Amino acid sequence: MSNKIIIKNQFDIEQMRISGKLAAEVLDFITPHVIPGVTTNELDRLCHDFIVNVQKAYPSPLNYEGQGPKVMPYPKSICTSVNNEICHGIPGPRILKEGDIVNIDVTVCKNSYHGDTSRMFYVGNTSDHAKRLCRVTFESMWLGILQVKPGNHLGDIGFAIQNHAERNGYSIVRDFCGHGIGKIFHEDLQILHYGRPKTGIKLVPGMIFTIEPMINQGRKDVRFLSDGWVAVTKDRSLSAQWEHTVLVTESGYEVLTVSPGMPEPPQFG
Ligand code: MF3
Ligand code: CO
Ligand code: CO
Repeated sequence: MSNKIIIKNQFDIEQMRISGKLAAEVLDFITPHVIPGVTTNELDRLCHDFIVNVQKAYPSPLNYEGQGPKVMPYPKSICTSVNNEICHGIPGPRILKEGDIVNIDVTVCKNSYHGDTSRMFYVGNTSDHAKRLCRVTFESMWLGILQVKPGNHLGDIGFAIQNHAERNGYSIVRDFCGHGIGKIFHEDLQILHYGRPKTGIKLVPGMIFTIEPMINQGRKDVRFLSDGWVAVTKDRSLSAQWEHTVLVTESGYEVLTVSPGMPEPPQFG
């Protein structure tokens, strides 16, 4: 984490559009592979090879040191967080089975700029209650994005997300937040996914950050596995997450992590 909010110039923004699009295109690429029987290691290898060989980019998580004491640098190229895993699920021999839900989180670095996005995937047929959690989390992320405009505050984003999640009976994870992003993977600027309207830092054109709410079906409490990375729900309930990288424009927002296969924003109202 740096110690200054970095306002992006026109060149930075052009580069961030490129990196954002690449990250989203990795998710498009991996989508048909997320089926029962695949291992999370296979998903990692496919994404890694696509990022390195096709996109000529670098998977930012690989060997990432993270913040705070960790047992090891992050060992893989993507995060695959299954069912009760909240985030930073490490790909391994685990076989995805019918009914699982999995978040795939991709960050790519191209020309020294990072783009960061994640989606939820259903593995085969999934229960209605799991689908509802994924849908409400997606809506919450978008309600947060819709608050992005100059003059609004970070608390407006957090409030919109928290309000929608809690009205639907879910809880917001407090241990992780969105972040500034640019030439540094996790820049200063913390985007809390909860809060009060009209509080916190005011948004200014040229800010770029992620919005990436993690929402639990049960309680908000987190437990870390012994590797120091993988976060799971303490009560073992399901957790979902969606993430976009967003630019504050003169009039509102621009989502940078866009691709042909990205799910359409929800129709509100
Ligand atoms: N992509 C994650 C985020 O949204 C961070 C992953 S860091 C890793 O911020 F090292 F775990 F990959
Ligand atoms: Co992020
Ligand atoms: Co991410």
